[in-house]
Amino acid sequence: MAIRVGVPRETAAGERRVSLIPELISKYEKAGFETIVESGAGEGAYLPDSVFTEKGAKIGTRDQVLAADVILKVQPPSKEEINELASGSILVGFLSPLDSPEISAGLAERGITSFAMELVPRISRAQTMDALSAMASVGGYRAVLVAAEALPKFFPLLTTAAGTVKPANVFVLGAGVAGLQAIATARRLGARVSGYDIRSEVKEQVQSLGARFVELDIETQESQDTGGYAKALAEEKAKRQTELLVPHIAAADVVVTTALIPGRPAPVLVTREAVEAMKPGSVIMDLAAANGGNCALTQADRKVVHNEVSILGPTNLPSEMPVHASEMYARTLLALVTEMVSDGELKLDFEDEIIGGACVTHGGNIVNERVKTLVAG
Ligand code: NAI
Repeated sequence: MAIRVGVPRETAAGERRVSLIPELISKYEKAGFETIVESGAGEGAYLPDSVFTEKGAKIGTRDQVLAADVILKVQPPSKEEINELASGSILVGFLSPLDSPEISAGLAERGITSFAMELVPRISRAQTMDALSAMASVGGYRAVLVAAEALPKFFPLLTTAAGTVKPANVFVLGAGVAGLQAIATARRLGARVSGYDIRSEVKEQVQSLGARFVELDIETQESQDTGGYAKALAEEKAKRQTELLVPHIAAADVVVTTALIPGRPAPVLVTREAVEAMKPGSVIMDLAAANGGNCALTQADRKVVHNEVSILGPTNLPSEMPVHASEMYARTLLALVTEMVSDGELKLDFEDEIIGGACVTHGGNIVNERVKTLVAG
């Protein structure tokens, strides 16, 4: 019998993405799966039930979908959703294991084997499964469009009969996946862009996108750890960093912030003083709002206006681009889930770096050490 993969409708407020797109159904079939989609699951991404059935999926009720062997989700499950899952089933999706470890505890208690897309190791074999990077690209792009709309100025240089308009200055803090996409997008719109990161090795990438790399006079040699992520800056260095950033922030019309160290609150890079040094009408787009924000005045999912500077902190930009975000996300899920089968049967090899790395709960226990420590408090 084929392994059943279930696609429930997302229940989180405002979530429009879906974890499967029709063109991947045949790929699941080839790997030995049959797909069952909850009626209406694709609506937010403009995918009616009919486009799933045309490609061979079944449409089912929520109960039928949740009875599948493997459940594919976008958002972490709510308490109610955890209780709806069948003990012994496999759940794959964003599970927020480090920021909301209580979700993992609930999944363990319920006997679910769960895999968090956030924990897929950043190794080359797992590149096609890197859902965080995929969504960060969407977020970085969308962030600039939303900021451009909020800015009472043009982005590009314009030469018109009514005179010349100077290009906007955009400053991007944190040049990881989201930041680099934000830089590229702002450049395409014609802005004058600069970028900053504590990892000076991204300088060339920033420059190759046509942006200026801002270097601050603080030591950064130890800022890259073995996982490729930034380490926390020592406190006094962080203070010096925020001070040195003020003139660069003050010169910008738009500041986009994306700085994050996984599993920690976001570092504050834009202080109240920095906001107060900005020109009226300027815009701060804080992508780290869900983790506390890179700007001291950010409020998640609200627009704050301080001294006529707008501070935006949307926490789910990918959902505002549900078509491509669903496509990209669904592909990363497929890549991971097909690692779980061999000869048409589910076989979980926990010794494997990817399967073992992404697994959060199994056999009634939390199996990821970091999450276990967090839950233990
Ligand atoms: P990433 O890990 O690739 O990049 C983060 C960058 O920040 C790294 O290059 C790191 O060196 C840098 N950084 C860390 N601390 C810093 C500091 N003190 N000063 C300067 N740079 C610093 O992460 P990615 O994938 O680009 O995501 C960035 C953020 O965007 C995350 O917080 C993520 O949750 C968020 N995000 C938000 C979305 C939204 O809708 N709001 C959508 C997608 C991503």
